[in-house]
Amino acid sequence: MTRFAGKVAVVTGAAQGIGAATARRLAAEGAAVAVVDLTAERAAGTVAQITAKGGTARAYGCDVADYDAVEAVFARIAADLGGLHILVNNAGITRDNLFFRMPKADWDAVLTINLTSAYNCSHVAQKYMVAQKYGKIVSLSSRSALGNRGQANYAAAKAGIQGLTATLAIELGPFNVNVNAVAPGYIATAMTAATAERVGSTAEDHQAEAATRTPLRRVGQPEEIASVVAFLASEDASYVSGQTLYVNGGAR
Ligand SMILES: NC(=O)c1ccc[n+]([C@@H]2O[C@H](COP(=O)([O-])OP(=O)(O)OC[C@H]3O[C@@H](n4cnc5c(N)ncnc54)[C@H](O)[C@@H]3O)[C@@H](O)[C@H]2O)c1
Repeated sequence: MTRFAGKVAVVTGAAQGIGAATARRLAAEGAAVAVVDLTAERAAGTVAQITAKGGTARAYGCDVADYDAVEAVFARIAADLGGLHILVNNAGITRDNLFFRMPKADWDAVLTINLTSAYNCSHVAQKYMVAQKYGKIVSLSSRSALGNRGQANYAAAKAGIQGLTATLAIELGPFNVNVNAVAPGYIATAMTAATAERVGSTAEDHQAEAATRTPLRRVGQPEEIASVVAFLASEDASYVSGQTLYVNGGAR
């Protein structure tokens, strides 16, 4: 498939997990992919996986919480790869704690990296997208947006992503920019492995427990989110905008 031939895609937090799978998927379908993570060294592994399969990708170091850094790196990406057509706001962190124990610093960090970074990247990217009257923005929300014990900060940030998405779809739609979000359930990545460790479990046991609560009786894999992000970034979803798509194995 070459749904993204001639397109330049930026994927943030793409050194590992869902971001890496998304970068690989977009590249496999013809996009030139900017693999963005905290350092270019961290992003290099994903780039190597893509280029080994004949794809086009380049590694960029950028803290997406820093607006000026985002502006500078997106300018480099557009110059290096020939434009900026697709943005995947994927970088994220957790700092879980029951609310009464949650320090302000952990509230601020999670809101900044999960939500303000999506403002930063979307705000810079829309300048390119509006000018060329073409763009796709897909952001990572989470099932936790509906409420999750120990994740007041993360739930607020991921619910914020849904409001940002709905509003950007209204404002950018007249410029042929589609804006959508994906809200995964439990996906087996380093993020959920860290959650397991924090609650004194192994990744395997934690996943098995999550599987029992999931109608499909298993947890998700990063590739199963990447394929949905790719759909929303493609012309297959040309009339889909302002939506948050839950991808969680059927859980209500
Ligand atoms: N894993 C899940 O179950 C799950 C569920 C719902 C939503 N999500 C969301 O999906 C996205 C990816 O999750 P994952 O599980 O692959 O996470 P992960 O922790 O495996 O990877 C996140 C990546 O983001 C990068 N990153 C963190 N802060 C950054 C910053 N300031 N600037 C640039 N890069 C930064 C990290 O270095 C890392 O490579 C996140 O937004 C997460 O909240 C994950």
